[in-house]
Amino acid sequence: MIGRLLVRLLAAQRGWAEPLGNFNVRWIGALLRPMRPIKDLLHGRWLGHPLHAASTDIPIGALLLGLLFDLIDSRPAADIALGVGILAMIAAALSGIADYGDTDDDARTNATVHATLMVVALVMLAVSLWLRLGAPAGDRTLAITLSIAGFSIVAAGAWVGGEVVYTLGNMVNRHAWRFGSKPNWLKLDVTEIPEDQPTAAKAGTQSLVVVRQGGQVYALHAQCAHANGPLPSGRIVDGSIECPRHFSRFDLATGRRKQGPTTYDQPRYEVREAEGGGWEVKRVESPAGQNV
Ligand code: FES
Repeated sequence: MIGRLLVRLLAAQRGWAEPLGNFNVRWIGALLRPMRPIKDLLHGRWLGHPLHAASTDIPIGALLLGLLFDLIDSRPAADIALGVGILAMIAAALSGIADYGDTDDDARTNATVHATLMVVALVMLAVSLWLRLGAPAGDRTLAITLSIAGFSIVAAGAWVGGEVVYTLGNMVNRHAWRFGSKPNWLKLDVTEIPEDQPTAAKAGTQSLVVVRQGGQVYALHAQCAHANGPLPSGRIVDGSIECPRHFSRFDLATGRRKQGPTTYDQPRYEVREAEGGGWEVKRVESPAGQNV
């Protein structure tokens, strides 16, 4: 009941959130695309996990601690916790901005609501801290009220962020549930693989992209691990394939992520020549707990 109400409330924000989201994604893209190493750092490609999800626990924990210190009127501790929470919010926002810049459709609209709530909360919390520092021994009613309101908005923003990830699947591994059975050799449905040109192919029920380079044929799953972008429509760059949607790159030989926004590797397949012509492929199984 409450969940349905909140979802309806969120959907009602589309009118302003959609155009604002489109505008924001344009300037974020223009700002971050020339700074690929920083962008990758913020996405968490090095971590193999979205950095934003990992970094948001710190401000929430610090802000909650600040409220508890307010409750027992432990003023210096409350102020320190609030200051740490604000700094950690700003740090978490940087990784959030990087992820936000590569959202589409509903994820982009809901992420805009999430970001807006967080900015409003951040301003309220900063004013609360400013009031506290201005009058350390004075009446704190307004400062504490602002902290409580700011934290409540942070909690609402976190719920919207959860919708973006858990309901819409933003920044999750798109291959997490794809493969149920043991891999086996399957015939590819293509007979021609042009040199250096991504080619769409089918192996059983799975869609692949195959690329021939020199004497070698490489095969990866066709749907990008980041957000299902079509790798057969991508381009080849330095032994990697680049997704046309948000420009993640995957090593053709290993499937390893070479450039974000993906923080996951791409499923890859062994390729061999089939008896009677053509090729057959077998998915390379991952060690337990790894992405592919
Ligand atoms: S779908 Fe986003 S980079 Fe491929």
